[in-house]
Amino acid sequence: MRRGSLVQLILVAIAAAAAGTAIALLPNWLPQPASREAGRIHFVFWFLTGICIFIFSIVASVTAYAVVKFRRKPDDDSDGPPIHGHTGLEITWTAIPAILVTAITIVSAIVLAKDDAAGANPLRVNVVAQQFAWSFYYPAYGNKRSGILRLPVHRSVLLRMTSKDVVHSFWVPEFSQKQDVVPGLHPTLHITPTRVGTYPVICTELCGLGHALMRSQTIVMTETAFDKWAHGAQTAAAVGGGGSSIFNQQGCTACHRLAAAGATGTIGPDLDKLAVEAQRAGKPLASFVRESIVAPNAYVEKGYPKGIMPQDFGTKLSKTQLDALVRFLVSSAKKGTK
Ligand code: CUA
Repeated sequence: MRRGSLVQLILVAIAAAAAGTAIALLPNWLPQPASREAGRIHFVFWFLTGICIFIFSIVASVTAYAVVKFRRKPDDDSDGPPIHGHTGLEITWTAIPAILVTAITIVSAIVLAKDDAAGANPLRVNVVAQQFAWSFYYPAYGNKRSGILRLPVHRSVLLRMTSKDVVHSFWVPEFSQKQDVVPGLHPTLHITPTRVGTYPVICTELCGLGHALMRSQTIVMTETAFDKWAHGAQTAAAVGGGGSSIFNQQGCTACHRLAAAGATGTIGPDLDKLAVEAQRAGKPLASFVRESIVAPNAYVEKGYPKGIMPQDFGTKLSKTQLDALVRFLVSSAKKGTK
């Protein structure tokens, strides 16, 4: 190959590498990592992307060069020269990818091993997924329950997951890890939060009608703030002394519309029309509401499928919680009809 051709090849390769780098960097593809594990995963991502850009620039330059340089001339019907292999070239294009793939394997294996190492004393949190809400339990703090995943910053955390019904998947984009929650299995996920802040918890496995709304939050707090919260008595708001917070925590908002709770779900009956629905069912409002929570299949509003509403609220909620929830729904229904 002449020197001029080689320079052309290199110029095209540089242009292709620049274009590839721009596409990789300019849109913000990844969220700012908020855990040590996410930082390592991002490193693997960029390591891989760098290799891809390198390969892309070589392939693009050789292809562009060949298309321009060896273009068929008009009326040229001759065959190309007969070439039977090129040992040097074949060894090169086998060896380079082999080295790169091995490097990717080693880097990934190191990151996976490091990300899984929870240390001797992680904070354990039991994550329970159920159509269509997340619950978080803290065994070290009297099995304290929360609808929001609260975590202390810089502490190694081990999440142990359980599904009560179908396959869900736990995902916090800023933590860069997803974990399927399969019924019957109890997968774990290790996280070391590095940034105080609030991030979304998203269900990322199609799990039914309310899947898109199966969301919660994770709040990464300072150690002191977390200790204060964890040791604090189960406040009315946390356990759900207030009907509206029970409504939110139990995931009712995912499926029902209720102006008083800012809920806009459309999977289950519209709870702003509870009064009318009770009339249709031919029952007094308060007992209709209670029955619909405890035994949801006893009467199902027309146009809505049976068996979608979870049937364990009667056992899951304490008597006080159930009373508060009924009171809240009845009072908002009465306000709605005025
Ligand atoms: Cu749970 Cu999607």
